[in-house]
Amino acid sequence: MIVSVRDLHKRFGDLEVLKGVDLDVERGEVVVVMGPSGSGKTTLIRCLNLLEVPDAGTVRICGHELTKRSAREVRRRTAMVFQQFNLFPHMTALQNVMEGPLSVRRVPRAQAEPQARELLARVGLADKCDCYPAKLSGGQKQRVAIARALAMKPEVILFDEPTSALDPELHAEVLQVMRELAREGMTMVVVTHETAFAREVADRVVFMDGGTVISQGPPSSFFTDPDHPRVRAFLRLVAS
Ligand SMILES: Nc1ncnc2c1ncn2[C@@H]1O[C@H](COP(=O)(O)OP(=O)(O)OP(=O)(O)O)[C@@H](O)[C@H]1O
Ligand SMILES: [Mg+2]
Repeated sequence: MIVSVRDLHKRFGDLEVLKGVDLDVERGEVVVVMGPSGSGKTTLIRCLNLLEVPDAGTVRICGHELTKRSAREVRRRTAMVFQQFNLFPHMTALQNVMEGPLSVRRVPRAQAEPQARELLARVGLADKCDCYPAKLSGGQKQRVAIARALAMKPEVILFDEPTSALDPELHAEVLQVMRELAREGMTMVVVTHETAFAREVADRVVFMDGGTVISQGPPSSFFTDPDHPRVRAFLRLVAS
C-alpha cells in the first residue's frame, strides 16, 4: 500500500473538517476524490504530506508513518500539484524543475539539468525551458508544475484540482499529461470534478461529504449506479 490513512481527524478552531477519514491507495492506482466544496478534500491531501498536521489518526506512506519527526524523509515520497501552480516566479521553467533535485535530493547540477529538460520535454514543453512563469499560459504553468513534481521521483503524486484555475480550452493539455502518467503506472490521488477524466482514468472514485468518505467505488458503478443519495445529487450538479 502506498498510502494508508486511518481515522484521520483535523479541525480548524471550532470547525471539525476531517471527522475520521480512512483511505487506502495501492501502487499504480489512480484515485479520484470528489465531493462538495468544504467537504475536506484539500485538507485531506494536505495532511498526506504534512502541509496540514492532523489532530488524530495515522497517515502511512509506503509503510512509514508520517509524523513530525519522520516528515522530511516520508514527505519526499509524495509530491503535490496545486490548483494555483505555486511555481517560483523568479525562476525559469527549467530552474523550477531543477530546484527540488538540487536542494532537497542533492543531485549534482550536471545531472539535474538534463533530467529537468527531459521532464519538460515529456510534458510537451521542451521549447519553454528558459521561460519565466509569467510568460507561460495556465496550462503550460501546470505542466511545469507536474514536471517539477516528477523531478522529485515521488511514489505518489497528489493533485488538488489541477485544472480548475484554467480556462476550459487549457484543461485538455493538462489532463493528457496526467492520463499518460497514469498509463505509465504512476500512483495518483486526484481531487477533481472532471468526470470524463475520472471515468476514463480513475481506478476508483472516492466521495467525501462533511469530512468523511461516504462512498467509493470503480467509476463504472460510481457514475452509473451511485449508491448514495448525496452522490446522486452531486453528480446531477456537476453534470449540469
Ligand atoms: N487553514 C484553514 N483555517 C481555517 N479553516 C480552514 C482552513 N483550511 C480549510 N478550512 C476550512 O475547512 C473546510 C474544508 O476545507 P477544504 O479546503 O478542505 O475543502 P474542499 O473540499 O477542498 O473544498 P473546495 O471544493 O471548495 O476546494 C472549509 O470549511 C474551509 O473553510
Ligand atoms: Mg479544495
